[in-house]
Amino acid sequence: MFGAQTKTVSANHYGHDLNAMAEAVDQRTRVVFVANPNNPTGTLASKGAVTDFLARIPDDVLIVMDEAYFEYLPDPTDLLPLIRSGKKPNLLLMRTFSKIYGLSGLRIGYGVGSPELIQRMEKVRQPFNVNAIAQAGALAALDDQEHVDRTRLNNAEGVEFFQKAFVQMGLEHVPSYANFVLVKVGDGKQVFDYLQKNGVITRPMAGYQLPEWLRISVGLSKRKPAMS
Ligand SMILES: Cc1ncc(COP(=O)(O)O)c(C=O)c1O
Repeated sequence: MFGAQTKTVSANHYGHDLNAMAEAVDQRTRVVFVANPNNPTGTLASKGAVTDFLARIPDDVLIVMDEAYFEYLPDPTDLLPLIRSGKKPNLLLMRTFSKIYGLSGLRIGYGVGSPELIQRMEKVRQPFNVNAIAQAGALAALDDQEHVDRTRLNNAEGVEFFQKAFVQMGLEHVPSYANFVLVKVGDGKQVFDYLQKNGVITRPMAGYQLPEWLRISVGLSKRKPAMS
């Protein structure tokens, strides 16, 4: 909308190549986006790789870390201290209630950044962007640690279940740190159609230049009982 040009950097083994991304930053770069864990690959950049990357990005470039799947990680890299200490005023962390909290229909998430950065964003924020019901739901969700723990465990079991099955079936997959697994099935569209006709919704990946792959999200291992 504002005429910005985007530069994409090729992935390395389906994960972000943070080294190449840092190298791609030049004097005209204003914002760098990194999703960690990434969608749709489920890959995770290590703490060391993220730390090196953050150190290499100039202070006048905004670094946006999309941490939508952060809560699924058993041992996540906490970047908050870099913001709290004032060391990274150009870092913005983005989180969502759409994933582990299961509140995607409420359309609510949050960002964490330095007071100066947030103040600037406030100037362009729409005045009534998050409604009161969504805020009430999000606040309740933050207090529901039991749900988060249960969902993280269910997810870890689900990811392991899929990954073991793919190994047994001889299907290549990308080891996942998110709530889905990317798997190579051959004709992604055909397998997607077949599964959907049989009541299983997956995501074909042609839009990500991965026509042979499907992304399969973790659900509950048992069917929910039908509502009476
Ligand atoms: C990396 C990543 N960021 C953000 C989102 C979207 O989050 P929201 O529902 O808060 O817009 C998704 C959802 O698919 C995602 O995969």
